[in-house]
Amino acid sequence: MNILIVGASGLVGSHLVMACQQRGWNVVGTYHQFEQPHLKPLKITDADAVQALIRETQPQVVFLPAFRSNVDYCEQNPEETYQINVVGSLNVAKSCKEVDAKLVFYSSDYVFNGEAGPYREVDEPEPICVYGRQKLEVEQQIAQLMTNYLILRVTVVYGHEAQGKNFLIRLISTLQNGQMIRVPEDQVGSPTLVDDIAEASCRLIEAGVTGLFHVAGPDVMSRYEFSLTVAELLGLERDNILPVITSELEQLAKRPLKAGMVCDRLVETINWKLKGVVDALNHLKNSESLG
Ligand SMILES: NC(=O)c1ccc[n+]([C@@H]2O[C@H](COP(=O)([O-])OP(=O)(O)OC[C@H]3O[C@@H](n4cnc5c(N)ncnc54)[C@H](OP(=O)(O)O)[C@@H]3O)[C@@H](O)[C@H]2O)c1
Repeated sequence: MNILIVGASGLVGSHLVMACQQRGWNVVGTYHQFEQPHLKPLKITDADAVQALIRETQPQVVFLPAFRSNVDYCEQNPEETYQINVVGSLNVAKSCKEVDAKLVFYSSDYVFNGEAGPYREVDEPEPICVYGRQKLEVEQQIAQLMTNYLILRVTVVYGHEAQGKNFLIRLISTLQNGQMIRVPEDQVGSPTLVDDIAEASCRLIEAGVTGLFHVAGPDVMSRYEFSLTVAELLGLERDNILPVITSELEQLAKRPLKAGMVCDRLVETINWKLKGVVDALNHLKNSESLG
């Protein structure tokens, strides 16, 4: 099977590459700014380049984890990020439709307002920040444009990452350097091991299903509780983790506070469960992915 991964240099994309290659699928991946020798350069804002690559690779499946995901940057630069996140994603969607490839778009629990999480697929979205509104608009436009798609909402993704941007890696390096870190105790979500997102994505492809799925770990906890669990399991200094409330962080974009997702639909469909935080951290520790 021919697979195209747009955004293969990122956290989710790099794990998708591995999960697809393990299955013997034929993978082409792209990067934007984080150049990698085995990946092709692509800007999703360049509709012609997107179309040319999709025509050339003739994929059966296009995974699209590419997005400008810094929520505060989106809040401050709504027009620029609209071009990348909404127009760029739809460039990919339109070219997928042209060659009848299945599109797998990665969305977020930021489509919800965060008043009543954890959320199911049937719950009404109501985004409270620019990033969340952009995600919801792409979801809606994909659903209008085509039928052969998967929309996978993910959240608080952590794991091994070459670019070292995700919360877990930043938390570990801060604590290892003996520094303090301020972590919100009122932002609740479902931390999710990135390896499991890639595995679930491939299993959904193998199951041949379409539509909307929540793909998240089974634990619902605050960032602070997550950080304490990490410190405990990895023998790091818990006293350097300072609980704060979100408003004290003075972040530009509003965060959905009581978020997180329920994944019954996914588990029933693929008959496979994502790992909880303790199992996932032990898995990373044993596979020496955190060094
Ligand atoms: N990580 C989370 O906690 C989380 C939570 C909820 C939802 N999500 C969603 O899940 C998806 C994957 O997240 P992630 O953490 O893997 O993101 P990531 O690590 O930031 O990766 C984003 C990917 O998109 C590429 N990219 C960025 N701008 C691009 C552009 N203009 N044209 C083409 N490619 C571009 C990046 O390329 P370069 O790195 O080479 O520049 C990178 O490969 C995103 O849609 C994100 O919004 C993530």
